[in-house]
Amino acid sequence: MAIRKAVVLCAGEGTRLRPLSFSRPKHLMQVAGRPLLSWILRALADAGIEQIGVVTPPDADAIQEFVEDGAQWGMTTTYLVQPRPLGLAHALSTAREFLGAESFLMYLGDNALEWSLAEFIKEFEASQAQAAVLVKQVADPRQYGVVELAAGEVVRLVEKPPEPPSNLAIAGVYAFAPVIFDAIDRITPSTRGEYEITDAIQRLLDDGGKVIAHELGGFWEDAGSPEDLLRINRFYLTQLRLEVHGVVDPASTVEGAVGVDVGTQVTNSRLSGPCLIGKDSVVANSTVGPNVTLGNNCHILNVQLQNCIVEDDTHIENLPAGVVRSVIGRQVRITGQGCCTRPTRIVVGDMCRIEVT
Ligand code: G1P
Repeated sequence: MAIRKAVVLCAGEGTRLRPLSFSRPKHLMQVAGRPLLSWILRALADAGIEQIGVVTPPDADAIQEFVEDGAQWGMTTTYLVQPRPLGLAHALSTAREFLGAESFLMYLGDNALEWSLAEFIKEFEASQAQAAVLVKQVADPRQYGVVELAAGEVVRLVEKPPEPPSNLAIAGVYAFAPVIFDAIDRITPSTRGEYEITDAIQRLLDDGGKVIAHELGGFWEDAGSPEDLLRINRFYLTQLRLEVHGVVDPASTVEGAVGVDVGTQVTNSRLSGPCLIGKDSVVANSTVGPNVTLGNNCHILNVQLQNCIVEDDTHIENLPAGVVRSVIGRQVRITGQGCCTRPTRIVVGDMCRIEVT
């Protein structure tokens, strides 16, 4: 039977994204003008997924308010609660009833990737394997799950190994037959105190099962840190068709792929793509881009913004030496006195006030 269901795990705490993750779950961080989760749900819908089970911590109102019933993506949604953060295998086990006897996809809700999930699903369905993992070559795989391959099949998986058996990291997307739940029932917590999905897949292999890996050639990043968010923002900006709908005055210049939404006014400024400016914003005497996403109703006056995410309703003024590599939440006010000689880097959540002197 074709895969129709996916479990999207949105239960991680996002500790490395603090203070941003105090304002909202990391899965809803804005990248290239939309919450990360929205990019993921679009990719799942495009791959033919019809029903999603979203695993959240208790009281994850923001995620439910955003996804609602999933109709926006043409999917139905079931919410599943993981009472405590006890690992990916534990999170998946909350979806047992939702999945029933069907094979399914599991997607970690903080992972962004450049790829067609349909191809991964097709390969799994044709393979008669009990599990498939998406893998990507990385320079340092020690912070990931790592697979060892022989003759194109997975022969061993290890979570965060100090001495990795290969440089193939597990890239946050999995396909499973329902037998994975029998394996989850038989694993014990790892040294970090979590029920690891990597250990459950290893258990399938130990039982004589077949596990395949699909190597991803394109972009992959999990949103663990502000730097990761900026890389994801850059990547998705290059995936968008950007157009200018707002008003850019003749004293301004526009270079490269630039999006300016309706109601926005750009005056005496330089926009350098890729960059995306939301609705009803004001940009004056400033440089925006490359690699900048600016939200709706922002005011950017006498500032150079490069490689930044700035969310809705935020005002930044008088920092002509630059704001770089920054992630700035909603309703933030940042005021300089125009006297900084070096670029400033700022990572703040919603409703902060900063004066740079
Ligand atoms: C988890 C998985 C790991 C995988 C990674 C991908 O790690 O346990 O196998 O490579 O996601 O993002 P964690 O985010 O829990 O450190």
